Amino acid sequence: ARSSILVAGSANLDFVVRAPHVPAPGETVLGGEFRTFPGGKGANQAVACARAGDASTRMLLALGADAFAAPIEQSLRDAGVALHVQRSQTQPTGTAFICVSDRGENAITVAPGANSALRPQDLPPLDGVGHLLLQLETPLDSVAAYARAARAAGVGVVLNAAPAQALAKELLADVDVLIVNEGELAVLAGAGDSIEANLARIDVPCVIVTLGERGCIARVGGQTLRQPAFAVEVVDTTGAGDTFCGALVAALARGGAMADALREACAASALACTRMGAQSSIPTRAEVEAFLRQADKAGTG
Ligand code: RIB
Ligand code: NA
Repeated sequence: ARSSILVAGSANLDFVVRAPHVPAPGETVLGGEFRTFPGGKGANQAVACARAGDASTRMLLALGADAFAAPIEQSLRDAGVALHVQRSQTQPTGTAFICVSDRGENAITVAPGANSALRPQDLPPLDGVGHLLLQLETPLDSVAAYARAARAAGVGVVLNAAPAQALAKELLADVDVLIVNEGELAVLAGAGDSIEANLARIDVPCVIVTLGERGCIARVGGQTLRQPAFAVEVVDTTGAGDTFCGALVAALARGGAMADALREACAASALACTRMGAQSSIPTRAEVEAFLRQADKAGTG
């Protein structure tokens, strides 16, 4: 059966410190305790797929031959993700330096390291794969090659175009579902006017824009869908967008309708904001279902 999900993308070890606010250029801020968490947009999304779904999830990733690789592999395996690891002998495992403010906002700098060693020819066979989920923390030529191969094999291609960058028309032509935040949408659409206007400019069958505490908006064919956000106590928004992407693809892989997938993804993402860290904050499907039952009772979301 064509139900499994393949994620191809980045994996990082996140170095996280909380501080009263994210420092401005030239400023020093006295923060709190330092902690490490498994992260990276690709790995976070693979964990989110696995926790959200009954579909089996695999991931293609590149790691260094160093001590930072082990906790990343452990976190993915604990979540039930099967791994295709490219081991770089020259590049260190990817790292991300994250400051989380007291309001739960963050600023992230990524040192890609081994992630930049993922090559176009590294994609594993697509037998049994229903959806391929991609991001932009690995080399663009590899992302484009994977999308092209998946499209040719009849596999659904989902691209989370993060971090923001302009993309070639050829790459977007191989994408079935594009997920972006407002900033990423503006960069792709090459303009700064309304979200609706920017949405109309993107030539992909389904485009979803995540709007943080305003939920999300999707354009599917000629139809526009809106899903409000769920109100939660925000502790750390790191990984919230990745949780949205993984939960959405898991719901689609299950054969769910887009409107239901958007609601589940918003709920999963809200729960991820209530906990510290990236992968450590991603909820299970049971947690999301319990949260949605509560929301139904309260008449929110
Ligand atoms: O999207 C959050 C992720 O961005 C972090 O886990 C960090 O590793 C960076 O890739
Ligand atoms: Na989080």
